[in-house]
Amino acid sequence: MRYEKLISDMTLEEKAALTSGKGFWDSVNIQRLGIPSIKMSDGPHGIRKQAGDADHLGLNKSVPATCFPTAASMANTWNPALGEAVGQYLGKEAMVQGINVLLGPGLNIKRSPLCGRNFEYFSEDPYLAGKMAAGYVIGIQSEGVAACPKHYAVNSQELRRMHNDSVLDERTLREIYTTGFEIAVKEGEAMTIMSAYNKVNGIYANEHEHLLRGILVDEWGFDGFVISDWGASNDHALGVANGSHLEMPTTGKDGIKLIVDAVKSGKLDESVLDERLDEFLSVVFRLKEAQATKNTPSDFDIEDHHVSARKAAEECIVLLKNEEEILPIKSNRKIGIIGDFAKDTRYQGAGSSLVNPTKLDNALEAWKKTDAKVIGYEQGFERHGKSNSELIFKAVALAKKSDVVLMYLGLDEVSESEGRDRDHMKMPENQVAAIEAVAEVNPNIIVILSAGAAVEMPWIDQVKGLIHGYLLGQAGSESLVNVVLGNVCPSGRLAESYPLKLEDTPCHSYYPGTELTSEYREGVFVGYRYYETAEVPVLFPFGFGLSYTEFSFDALKVTEHGVIVDITNVGDVAGAEVIQMYISKAGTKIYRPVKELKGFSKVYLQPGASIQVEIPFDDKTFRYYNTGTNSWEVEGGTYQVMIGASVADIRLQGEIQVEGTAAQSPYDALELKDYYKGNIKNIDDAQFQALLGRALPVSKWDTSKPLNLNDTVGQMFYAKSFMARIALKIIAHIKDNSIKKGKPNLNILFIYDIPFRGIAKMMGGAISMEMAEGILEMVNGHGFKGIKKLIKGAMHKNVKTEVNQGKNDNGGVSYGGND
Ligand code: BGC
Repeated sequence: MRYEKLISDMTLEEKAALTSGKGFWDSVNIQRLGIPSIKMSDGPHGIRKQAGDADHLGLNKSVPATCFPTAASMANTWNPALGEAVGQYLGKEAMVQGINVLLGPGLNIKRSPLCGRNFEYFSEDPYLAGKMAAGYVIGIQSEGVAACPKHYAVNSQELRRMHNDSVLDERTLREIYTTGFEIAVKEGEAMTIMSAYNKVNGIYANEHEHLLRGILVDEWGFDGFVISDWGASNDHALGVANGSHLEMPTTGKDGIKLIVDAVKSGKLDESVLDERLDEFLSVVFRLKEAQATKNTPSDFDIEDHHVSARKAAEECIVLLKNEEEILPIKSNRKIGIIGDFAKDTRYQGAGSSLVNPTKLDNALEAWKKTDAKVIGYEQGFERHGKSNSELIFKAVALAKKSDVVLMYLGLDEVSESEGRDRDHMKMPENQVAAIEAVAEVNPNIIVILSAGAAVEMPWIDQVKGLIHGYLLGQAGSESLVNVVLGNVCPSGRLAESYPLKLEDTPCHSYYPGTELTSEYREGVFVGYRYYETAEVPVLFPFGFGLSYTEFSFDALKVTEHGVIVDITNVGDVAGAEVIQMYISKAGTKIYRPVKELKGFSKVYLQPGASIQVEIPFDDKTFRYYNTGTNSWEVEGGTYQVMIGASVADIRLQGEIQVEGTAAQSPYDALELKDYYKGNIKNIDDAQFQALLGRALPVSKWDTSKPLNLNDTVGQMFYAKSFMARIALKIIAHIKDNSIKKGKPNLNILFIYDIPFRGIAKMMGGAISMEMAEGILEMVNGHGFKGIKKLIKGAMHKNVKTEVNQGKNDNGGVSYGGND
């Protein structure tokens, strides 16, 4: 151990204190031993450092910071180097603000378009998500700040996120849900990682030995530390025993007591605690040294960072439709602008990633800076969906006078928020009504869409142009104008498939898990892996995006090291193409998707220019996870190597003979017949059990039993206590009302889904676990017993510990004075 001496000088209480937060955003410092505190902050697309009251839902204002495009947008660039550049800017701002750990990037897999946090995640594909995340990690860490890829792992729904159990087979876990993290850890060398709220196959992610030690440390060589998501720690001592280092936020003395008791009772081996501390301190001292030696300026150049956010946004934009070459708009055409989103930009999502931007563009101002002939603006519709015929009437009048109509549409703030999944994929009806009304008087409609996830587009035939901006950050409006006018040639390519309708999505019958479990019955067939295999038509395929120029793909060579292909810009303007490499294996003995992304490269070419592009094979190209040998294996035989401009637009194809490993297929093809056909939308219990290799866990609440610490406040509808049932009604009423009004109350949403143990974990030490147990007794109808426990718990909370205590600025408890 590196810090053996230091650790041996610590009392048990001091050791215990270091495993929980000091406040909402910082770790404990111990002055007498020279152990500093480190500061953490969200998040993935901009720093959310809270100067005042702390919360983890973006409710209280944070210090102004540059808001870059969100991950869903950045993934469309297919440009990890740009991710790295953005990461560098983030790292710089973090350093200026005294932050040591930046809580991002988020790289959970987009299992369903409905997940409320899809805007914060990269892709439905683990390879693309991992490469982008690794770029961010390298960029952030190059500035002396640790990145924190999150939420590890299988965290693809917001509903009941703090206690839901993601049930899936080991192969799906490895190939789909952890490969991205593997790339972020191995290639990005992430110094920290955030464990997810949910359980994975019955075990909380923060105490999952297999995930935290077996895979993360033993297989990937991770040598950093694991931070629990805020309130994700369940059994703190078990978490530490199984590979978690730091529970966040503070749990006051509770955290110390739990660890001290666990060591004394033999539940937690002190040598394991020491090992965790050694791993944790190794990173802490590295970060502090970087902070001390970097010559950090006291401020950053707001304008320079804003321009970099704009340039990043320009690469994110995806051109999805361009009939009759309506784009770029020719000069002298009279442009009418319609849509609330032109005035009130939608540029980020809600929740812990919410950035307080240094500046904010809107489209109307951005258009004023151009020579374009904009003849007017009309709101067109009410943002939160209420129908308003007067607004449509005015929009139609403007459309009549215009040569081209730019319609700024999108999802509102309620639709994409941490803590809440969407329940459909539709655009608000009043926006569709506005398109229909405008289309009757003017066929030249270009839609500019702002949404962090896929939407259904039954209106697509009524418009000639469609530009998807996703959520472009604070400087996105100018970038969109640049694309519309042709100053920038669009080069974004979709990092997720756009199904025609929600019912087509592979997990439609299984998503979201509504009670105890979320069953991943579709297995590895996520996104395009399903659409391509089952030949289900989509609106826009994975990897798709148009350009103002065209590229030819020629002379494919497949060697044992990878592919080489000639790419030429055969159009009239400079532009970029994303060359995508997919792999397929005909006659496979294991079942497989018919195409899997295994490499890509983005090239920028002047008109007429050519380049030879090499995409190497790597350790992931031919591997699959074999649940019989419990290791990665390679099936021997002939593989098809496909080079395309999207998963559905394969331009060239070659073959390669690959020598496999000797492992046998672990599957009985008859037992898994639907998986072998890719026909996974209605997998029955027997087949899913065969895939899992075990019986299905109980998925429903037992409403006859008393509620336990891991049941949620939202389950109080079957509580024995009448008062608890009334309290729930009030909470539910506030929650539903806020959603109806278009401003979801994130606090209430969080409370609704919080397990009772979370009350102790999230109150900064004000409520101990014993007190939470007392509250639960009351909820279960044992009023007196509950009150007694509550009082006893409050008294225990005041017992002195050996560790010096003092209030810190976030209301938590600090140890040993200041840093
Ligand atoms: C989110 C994390 C975030 C943390 C701290 C949690 O609710 O899931 O992504 O980093 O809060 O704000």
